[in-house]
Formats: sequence, C-alpha cells, structure tokens
Amino acid sequence: MFMKNCWYVAAWSHELIDDALVGRTLLNEKVLLYRGNDGKVCAMEDRCCHRGARLSMGRLEGNCVRCMYHGLLFDSSGACVEIPGQESVPPNLKVRNYPIVDTGHLVWIWMGEPTLVDESKIPDFPYLKDPAWHGRPDYLHYDANYQLIADNLADINHIAYVHTNTLGGSERYVVEQTASPLEKLDDGFRLTKWHMNSDLPPFVKKIEKKMGKVDRWNTVEMKVPAYFFLESGFSPAGTGIEKGNKEGSLEFHNFQAMTPETDRTTHFFWVYMHNQKKDVELYSHSLHDSILEGFHEDKAIIEAQQEVLDADPKFKLRAIASDAPLSHLRWLVDKRIKEESTQA
Ligand code: FES
Ligand SMILES: [Fe+2]
Repeated sequence: MFMKNCWYVAAWSHELIDDALVGRTLLNEKVLLYRGNDGKVCAMEDRCCHRGARLSMGRLEGNCVRCMYHGLLFDSSGACVEIPGQESVPPNLKVRNYPIVDTGHLVWIWMGEPTLVDESKIPDFPYLKDPAWHGRPDYLHYDANYQLIADNLADINHIAYVHTNTLGGSERYVVEQTASPLEKLDDGFRLTKWHMNSDLPPFVKKIEKKMGKVDRWNTVEMKVPAYFFLESGFSPAGTGIEKGNKEGSLEFHNFQAMTPETDRTTHFFWVYMHNQKKDVELYSHSLHDSILEGFHEDKAIIEAQQEVLDADPKFKLRAIASDAPLSHLRWLVDKRIKEESTQA
C-alpha cells in the first residue's frame, strides 16, 4: 500500500528529451512519460487500450504517441484520435492520463485521485532553481522498499558506521554529537545535529585543504511519503555555528526523493549542491562522486537488509532512541494511507 494523494518524482526534467518515450513503473503501475513537441510533459498508462502493447515501445508524433503494434494514435490526454483503416474512433477509447508537472528541474506525478490534485503541495527544494547553487543531479535504482531507504536517511547517526571512511569520518559522530529536540511536523520532522571540534570527513578533505578543526552541522528535514532535505556544513571550530554564525563555513544542500517502483524496488533521485564561486565544476564533480560512493555503501546495507527481512516475515524489529524520527515518519505515512482508504 502506498500513499497516492501526493506528488512523487517521476523523472528529472532532463530525462525527457530527444523524443524519448520513457516507460517507468511507479507505485506498481506502468507509466509512459514523454515531452511532446510543444515542450509539455505528459504521463499516461503505458498500456495500449487495444491489446495491451506498451506505448513506450511506440513512436512520438508531435504531441501524440502511436502504438507500434496496430497503429492506434493517442493524444496527450490519453484519448485515441486515430485508428488506421477505421473511419470512426469510439469516444471511450482511451488510456489513463496522470496529472504531471515539470518544475524546478523535476517532473512530478500525481498517482491518486485526480480531483484532489493540488500543485501547491509539490515539495520545494529552492536551491535547484538558484544560480548560486551547483550540483550534478543523479539517479539510483534500489532493490529495496522505499521506506527502508527513508529509515536510513531519518537516522543520520548511520554515517558514523556505514560511511566512516567517506561521508562520516568518525565513529565518534554518534557519541560526541549534540542534537536539537525532534521537531514533529504534520507532514514530517526536522532535526539538527552538531558535532563540535571535529575533523573534516574524507569527502570534504578532498576539496577543502585549509580548514583545521571544524564544527559540523546537519539539519535534516523529511516529508511524507519519502522526501529528504539536508542543510549541512562545516565552520571553523568555535566560531558560533550553533548560534547561527555561518561566516567562513562550507555549506551544502542535499535533496533526495524516493519513489516506489514496486513494493520491493525504488527510484532514488538525488542532488548534492554547493555554493562555491571558484572551480565550480571541479567541486560539483568531486562531491557527486564522493556522495555516490557513500550511497553505494547505503545501498549495499539496505538491499541486504531487504533480503533478510524478506526471508523471515515474522522477524520483529526493535526500536532504539535514535529511531524516533523514522518512527514518526512511518506513523504519518500509515495514517495518511488509512485516511485515503477511508475517503475512498
Ligand atoms: S495493441 Fe496498440 S494498437 Fe493494438
Ligand atoms: Fe547514508
């Protein structure tokens, strides 16, 4: 069961170029994504209503898609507008069309009740639109349920052990940190953790050669069903970051969106951004490669965890204190799913 009445990331905007017909499974549904010649992005069922061929194996014709099995032509609303060799087209011959919005370099899809669509609820990550911020957007495919990935992000303490030699830097992160109280929101949570007078982690040492001891901060905000926003950085130790003084700091902004593909697989869209003014591309590439290395460390743990959980459905997970954020997020998602099924 998934939350349906919300926006999910279906693709990066740059994936829908060059007349590509992208077939992608989202929430167990086969969806065709494409950009018509008018520049507008469309999403429809990736299943021809005639005999079930995949429309993503078809051909873009202007703003329409032709099924390359028997040639039926569908417009961007999903209505069949032409049947080769047949004069009239029955008015009810159509495939499902999904509400879709192309904004902020991302393509957002609404898989739920169309009458409840509300574009103002599209999560905002403003740095993708801000020319002062730079990063290389990317995608990973996960053989794991999307909530296991969200759990991982909700407990940032994992950087100490999973990412000791990459993003974390030290197992001491867990025991030396100070944290703000968990801020429970109606649609997620917010939490800040500081690690004062620490060393730069390996991924930052690659690009920053002058800083000595630093005060590190990580402000995590997550929103249902599975959006992750991280504001993080490193300031020279003792200069007052806990009071908001960011002078002389290195700052990063990170966005990750998890869209269920199936119950056991996930589309993972991510970008890690910096605001350096010099050597912008070098920073972007270095950070991208370092973060990706870290994400492969997460992926190995989480995909193996999925296999373990699948092997014994009766296995009961036990909670520790740092699970509070992920428990809140899971509770909110369950609540929203229940509300949706009651409304339906
Ligand atoms: S299956 Fe698409 S035209 Fe026949
Ligand atoms: Fe991680």
